[in-house]
Amino acid sequence: MRFIDDETRHKILDLLPRYPSKQAVTLPALHMVQDKYRCVPNDAVRDIAELLDLAPAEVLDTMTFYMFFRGEENKLGKTRLWVCRSLACQLRGSDDLTEHLCHKLGVTVGGTSADGKITLETAECIGACEGAPAVLVDDAHEMNVSNEMADKLVARLRA
Ligand code: FES
Repeated sequence: MRFIDDETRHKILDLLPRYPSKQAVTLPALHMVQDKYRCVPNDAVRDIAELLDLAPAEVLDTMTFYMFFRGEENKLGKTRLWVCRSLACQLRGSDDLTEHLCHKLGVTVGGTSADGKITLETAECIGACEGAPAVLVDDAHEMNVSNEMADKLVARLRA
């Protein structure tokens, strides 16, 4: 039985003409699946491999090379909240901010809040050094984030 739904399957197939080989679609396919299902289960790895004429191990190799992708045992929450841990942010308190968020969400880094709303992660420079400490809320920057701002952000994401 297939895991990936028809809509996602068609979106993956639609990418094929835009890439030099089927294998080159592996990364965008993994992104699509994770965006939709909040993880890439083993059954989805098999589906992607079948769609792209690859061995499941080849898809799994790509998936595990990047720390970005999650298996079904470690599913993402609705929102991915990344705290930058690189130098500019660290000098402006990102370690404290991370600790504050861990406490607030009841998780360690990499974990997902019990309500399934927020996964807390750390990242290398997210390109917003002028607004250190900075965080990424999925793809959007928030800059000069104090603990108070982080509390408001969490409340907004949980609403
Ligand atoms: S060091 Fe944090 S955004 Fe660049």
